Amino acid sequence: MSSTDNASEESEESEEGQRGERNARKTIAVAGGTGTLGRRVAAELAARGHEVRVLSRTSGAWRVDLSTGEGLAQALAGCHVVVDASNERSARRARRTLVEGSRRLLDAEWYAGVGHHVCVSVVGCDRVPMGYFRVKHEQERVVEEGPVAWSIVRATQFHELVAERFAAGGRWRVLPLPRARLAPVACAEVARVVAEVAAGEPLGKRREVAGPAVAELRDLARGWRSATGRRALVLPVPFPGRAGRALRAGVATAERPEVWGTTSFAAWLEGREGLPR
Ligand SMILES: NC(=O)c1ccc[n+]([C@@H]2O[C@H](COP(=O)([O-])OP(=O)(O)OC[C@H]3O[C@@H](n4cnc5c(N)ncnc54)[C@H](OP(=O)(O)O)[C@@H]3O)[C@@H](O)[C@H]2O)c1
Repeated sequence: MSSTDNASEESEESEEGQRGERNARKTIAVAGGTGTLGRRVAAELAARGHEVRVLSRTSGAWRVDLSTGEGLAQALAGCHVVVDASNERSARRARRTLVEGSRRLLDAEWYAGVGHHVCVSVVGCDRVPMGYFRVKHEQERVVEEGPVAWSIVRATQFHELVAERFAAGGRWRVLPLPRARLAPVACAEVARVVAEVAAGEPLGKRREVAGPAVAELRDLARGWRSATGRRALVLPVPFPGRAGRALRAGVATAERPEVWGTTSFAAWLEGREGLPR
């Protein structure tokens, strides 16, 4: 047998090994596994045959608090992978859960021998100089410099979040909106990517997921209004400063994401029952 035969046989074996690794049943903890994204990631992973632990402050079996570290050691014992889909939407409180929480989570993972940490982040978080985005970028840096091999999945805004914000504002029958270019994506499509990444080897880099179309926030609001039949005035308001300029320029959209979602906001609205109104 020639050395080429040997090499190709070895590479076939290692490819098979990698495939096996990808398909092997793993124990995967999903921090924030009760949230909008986290519960979909947990369901995707379970459907692929992995053993999933849902971690959150209100989780039945694996109650943890990232802002204090409570429950982490027990919840992570025996886990191969951790997906961090936790969130704190208030920019004022976000640092404690997302940045300091990531440090606590990564330390606990290191002690537990976890081999892969998957962080979910936001497209453009390094380019929007504004509270929550800054915190997400800081969280990314903690993960990149942390003790556990990592992957980061950055997504654009979820259709679910955009619709929820319109519904909340629409209660007053007026939607004061600045100009901003967004490329929203269906949360279910992001969940599939996150699950795929979690089941594989650590990437050591970011993967971006974006919706199929870039749209003006005010046009999305008009689409939401006609899909829900709600009467709400779209009121243009200025968003001065660097953050406003960045959003107008479309930094929260992705130029060349690795994954394009296929469901537009309009298609998502159409196929949606129980839409927040
Ligand atoms: N929403 C979007 O449009 C969007 C877009 C791109 C990226 N992302 C990213 O996707 C991730 C998930 O966002 P999401 O919108 O799905 O979040 P979400 O619906 O607000 O869910 C947050 C989750 O975090 C858990 N949590 C909050 N504080 C916690 C704490 N101190 N300890 C433990 N668990 C805690 C919550 O559960 P309990 O309350 O039960 O603890 C819940 O399961 C975030 O990293 C976010 O930046 C979101």
